[in-house]
Amino acid sequence: MAEKAELRIGGDVIELDVIVGTEGERAINIEELRSKTGLITLDPSYANTGSCESSITFIDGEKGILRYRGYDIAELAEKCTFLETAYLLIEGKLPTREELDKFRESIRYHTMVHEDFRLFYRAMPKDAHPMAACSAACASLATFYPDSLDPRDPREVEVGVHRLIAKLPTIASYAYKHAIGQPFMYPDNRLSYVGNFLHMMFATPCEPYEVDPVVERALDLLFILHADHEQNCSTSTVRIVGSSHVNLFASISAGINALWGPRHGGANQGVIEMLQAIAEEGITAKDFVDRAKSRNDTSRLVGFGHRVYKNFDPRAKIIKKACFDVLARLGVNSKLLEIAVELEELALKDDYFVERKLYPNVDFYSGVIYNAIGTPESMFTAMFAIGRLPGWIAQWAEMHDHQHKIGRPRQVYQGANERSVQTIDER
Ligand code: ACO
Repeated sequence: MAEKAELRIGGDVIELDVIVGTEGERAINIEELRSKTGLITLDPSYANTGSCESSITFIDGEKGILRYRGYDIAELAEKCTFLETAYLLIEGKLPTREELDKFRESIRYHTMVHEDFRLFYRAMPKDAHPMAACSAACASLATFYPDSLDPRDPREVEVGVHRLIAKLPTIASYAYKHAIGQPFMYPDNRLSYVGNFLHMMFATPCEPYEVDPVVERALDLLFILHADHEQNCSTSTVRIVGSSHVNLFASISAGINALWGPRHGGANQGVIEMLQAIAEEGITAKDFVDRAKSRNDTSRLVGFGHRVYKNFDPRAKIIKKACFDVLARLGVNSKLLEIAVELEELALKDDYFVERKLYPNVDFYSGVIYNAIGTPESMFTAMFAIGRLPGWIAQWAEMHDHQHKIGRPRQVYQGANERSVQTIDER
């Protein structure tokens, strides 16, 4: 018999269904709580609240497990490309060779953006943060493509999805080119998805540019590791914005803004800034760790800690190894990597971090790789957004399949009781 939970309130006992997930996670279903009792639940920051049932990504934070559609992240990272992973997340299955070719072909077809986009960037200051530019450009795609806006039309959604995956690297690279005053590079559709992005970032019209296969593979790997992470801040944002039935471009634009924050995707930029500050100010790793622990200092050890992972972040393990491989193969000696390793070793032995179960997260080493391949810090989070895009899309689509009401949390009002307005002379 299905398990029930009992809630005693006043003199009444209410029975609530217990939902069991395919990996044995249990959740009390409170969908009827308010209609049966007049009560709501209170859970600021949603640490105890499941907002949906989902079949996309499974995380076990205690055991350090991350799977997309049932496949372990380490195996996907080893055996698949980013576009195969994107297909998996969005379509729910790994593609056959033909399916992948067709998907890749469609993405290639859509890589260019409207020529008027050049004017769009020109309206922004040179030091505009790429995340602001990406989010604005992404929302503005809705103005260029009125034929792919209806979230209830499968064909319009498919075209919109392919356009977004194809154009976000172009949009992000243009933000960078604008910042450094170089000409925007058109996509070169002979290249791979990641190769094309590197070309648009680093090529100029005057010099030949060869995509370095080591860098290409490293970036592809980073994109795979970032591709989805269930109901995190930006993904929940995409879902809730999408639940208003606004178009996909607007929903993803909102997700990009959420990802920008330093407690979320912006942490990868924060890590490298922290490592550089340690290197430049000549403070020791130990001093910095002490600062991060101090109640009188607001510094945190950026790239450490995670709401869900309380043992280790499986992505951080893979990225740490990739970081050493890439730097060795590029022949780069990185002072920043040395500091990162020292910080990690100190923190993992320190009671403060051990007691709070704070481990390196996905952002701790990714910034060192981005740095080694010549990416400016301001672009780190934009690159995270390119990686996360398939996950946002898959979650947005799943929300449309499952959830038929607009997302709308409630609140417990704690403000003034009713009072009358005094005119300005009476106040
Ligand atoms: N350095 C020092 N102390 C930390 C750190 C850190 N990086 N992270 C958490 N703590 C401490 C907090 O001060 C708090 O201590 P207290 O209990 O004595 O008050 C305790 O650990 C719990 O921290 P919370 O902020 O309550 O944990 P939460 O689960 O809400 O936050 C978060 C998770 C936001 C990731 C946090 O660990 C953090 O700010 N880390 C640094 C930023 C970062 O790396 N973000 C990237 C996350 S991965 C991603 O979004 C892609």
